Amino acid sequence: MMKAIRISPKVWWVGAIDWQLKEFHGYTTRRGSTYNAFLIMDRKITLVDTVKAPFFGEMMERIASVVDPAKIDVIVSNHAEMDHSGSLPETIARVNPSAVYASTLGVKALEAHFHDLAGKIAPVKSGDAIELGESSLKFVETRMLHWPDSMFSYLTGDNILFSQDGFGMHYAVSKIFADENDLPTMREEAERYYANILLPYSPQVLKLLDAFPGLGLDVAVIAPDHGPLWRGGMLGTPLAWYKEFAEQAVTPNALVLYDTMWHSTEKMAFAVADAIRETGCGVQVLCLASCTRSDAAAAMLKASALVVGSPTINNDLYPRTADVLTYLRGLRPKNMVGAAFGSFGWSGESVAKIEEYLKGAGVELVAPGLKVKYVPTAAALDQCAALGKAVGDALLARSAQ
Ligand code: FEO
Repeated sequence: MMKAIRISPKVWWVGAIDWQLKEFHGYTTRRGSTYNAFLIMDRKITLVDTVKAPFFGEMMERIASVVDPAKIDVIVSNHAEMDHSGSLPETIARVNPSAVYASTLGVKALEAHFHDLAGKIAPVKSGDAIELGESSLKFVETRMLHWPDSMFSYLTGDNILFSQDGFGMHYAVSKIFADENDLPTMREEAERYYANILLPYSPQVLKLLDAFPGLGLDVAVIAPDHGPLWRGGMLGTPLAWYKEFAEQAVTPNALVLYDTMWHSTEKMAFAVADAIRETGCGVQVLCLASCTRSDAAAAMLKASALVVGSPTINNDLYPRTADVLTYLRGLRPKNMVGAAFGSFGWSGESVAKIEEYLKGAGVELVAPGLKVKYVPTAAALDQCAALGKAVGDALLARSAQ
C-alpha cells in the first residue's frame, strides 16, 4: 500500500509520483513530475486538489493510509487543469463530500471539463475562508497564474500555503521537502517550469509578489502542486527565483537557435555565435534537430538576445523552426533583442518569416536579416560575423543601462 507523508501536525501529502512523465502538453520533462494533493485532518477532513486521472488509485491508497476516504468532508480545487482535477469526478463519486469549493472561474472551468459536476461546486473568492475546526482555509485568487481559475489556499494553524502550479516544478522526488533535494537541480527545473508555463504571465507574477507581504499570511510551508515543498530557510528561495524570472532583467547573454538542411545555415549560426562571443557576451547555440521546444524556452529565459536561423524549404520556414518559433512567440519574452538569418536556394522567404515571429514575440530586431544563397562564402561568413557583432554590441549597450 502506498503511504501518505505527514508534512505538518494536521496535513498529509497524498499525491502521486509520475516517475515516467516525459511529455506534458508539449513540454518535454526530463525528471518526471509529482501531482501533489493534500489531506487536512481537522474536524472537517479536507482534500486540497486531486491528481491526474490515471493516478486516482495511488492518491486513494495514500489517503486510506491515514483515514477512510469516505470520511472526507470537503474538497478544494485550487486549479482546474486536468493534472489536478482529472481525478475530481471519481473522487467526488467515491467520497461523497458535503462540499466542494473552487474559485468562481474555477467552478466554470470545472463544469466545462466535467459536465456532470454542474451545480455541485461552490464558488469562493479572495478573502473568503471556510472553517475546518481548529483551523480555517483562506482563499486568494491568482487569476492567470497560470489559468483564469487559479487560486491559492492558506491553512491557518499549520500555516501552509497551497500554491497549485505556482512555485512548482516538474521533478519527481521521493523526499517531499526542497531542503531534502539537490538545489542546482531544483533551480534548473524551476527555471524550466517557469519558462514553459508561467513566462507569459510575468506581469501577474510581479504583481502577486508585490502584494504578498500585504496578505498578512504567516507562511511556514509553501506547498505547490508539482515537485518539492518549501519550508524554513528555503521559504524565500522560490519567491526570489520568481522575481528574477519574472523581471527578465537584461543580461549579456545570447541564444542562437538554428536548423539546417545541408549545414549552410549551421555554418552561418556558428559564425554569428562566434562574433557574439567576441563582443564579450555569452552565447548558447542550440540546433533544433537535437533539442526540444522546451529546451529552447528554458534557454531563452537565460538570454536577452534571440538570434534565429532557418533554411527556406518550399517557400517557407523549416518545419521545426516554425514549431519552436510559434511556441516561443506565445511565451512573450521581455527585454530581448534579436536578428534572423538563413541559407536558401531560389526563393529565400525564411528570414522574413523569422523576423515576423520575432516581432510578434516582442523581440526588437537590431540587425537586418541575412540571407545567403546555398553555401556561404568567406565573404558571407563575414556578413554573419557582422550580424553577430551588431547583436552583441546591442546587448552590451542594453545591459549597461
Ligand atoms: Fe499543473 Fe496548470 O497544471
